[in-house]
Amino acid sequence: MGLKIRFVELIVLLFLINQISSKVEFTNIKCTCLDPEFSNFEYCFLKSVNRTYKYLSLKVNLLKKPVTKIKVNFAVLKRFNGYKPFMYNVTVEACRFMKNPQSNPIAGYLHSLFKNYSNMNHTCPADHDVIVDKLSIDFLNKQVTEVLPFPQGDYLYQTKWFAYDIQRATVDVYFTIY
Ligand SMILES: *[C@@H]1O[C@H](CO)[C@@H](O)[C@H](O)[C@H]1NC(C)=O
Ligand SMILES: *[C@@H]1O[C@H](CO)[C@@H](O)[C@H](O)[C@H]1NC(C)=O
Ligand SMILES: *[C@@H]1O[C@H](CO)[C@@H](O)[C@H](O)[C@H]1NC(C)=O
Ligand SMILES: *[C@@H]1O[C@H](CO)[C@@H](O)[C@H](O)[C@H]1NC(C)=O
Repeated sequence: MGLKIRFVELIVLLFLINQISSKVEFTNIKCTCLDPEFSNFEYCFLKSVNRTYKYLSLKVNLLKKPVTKIKVNFAVLKRFNGYKPFMYNVTVEACRFMKNPQSNPIAGYLHSLFKNYSNMNHTCPADHDVIVDKLSIDFLNKQVTEVLPFPQGDYLYQTKWFAYDIQRATVDVYFTIY
């Protein structure tokens, strides 16, 4: 009996050590515009300033402003043989969510990953271009590994952006946890 408890404690300890030492490396970002009449990406990149400071920036020009109906599908995929759905596949009516962010905790978590670095922080309509500015990888690292630990592996954080129920763009962020 005592031995069993120790064994469980050991597993928990190993698990915690593994979590503490886990690290995220962002490997790529891919922004795809599916409807150039509606919007386009002015830029979309990952930048390494030095070994410790990396960031992600993107800018979307909206060509049919204001936009009053926005839907976002977020999914996390993990690579096995190709990328397979792993955790979360949520679709959020963004205008409804922004009015009442507490209504959807998962969407709240996903939004918290970039909201402090973005002008996507207010209720609809979206009446200006959309920016994510220097979203620090170090910040994402903390959110992903400390707030919500993931097992090691290659991942894809995929977001699909819809306006008026038509998909207009995708933003795919690739990362590795090791
Ligand atoms: C990396 O760049 C950032 C921003 O320029 C700077 O604050 C930081 O000190 C640099 N770190 C190293 C290790 O050079
Ligand atoms: C998420 O769910 C939607 C609707 O159920 C589906 O069309 C989509 O392919 C799913 N995405 C992933 C990455 O599995
Ligand atoms: C975003 O900024 C607010 C206000 O400065 C702060 O209270 C909050 O903790 C920040 N969010 C995250 C996820 O860091
Ligand atoms: C939203 O983001 C913009 C641009 O970063 C900033 O100027 C503004 O204060 C933010 N508003 C809120 C409510 O956080």
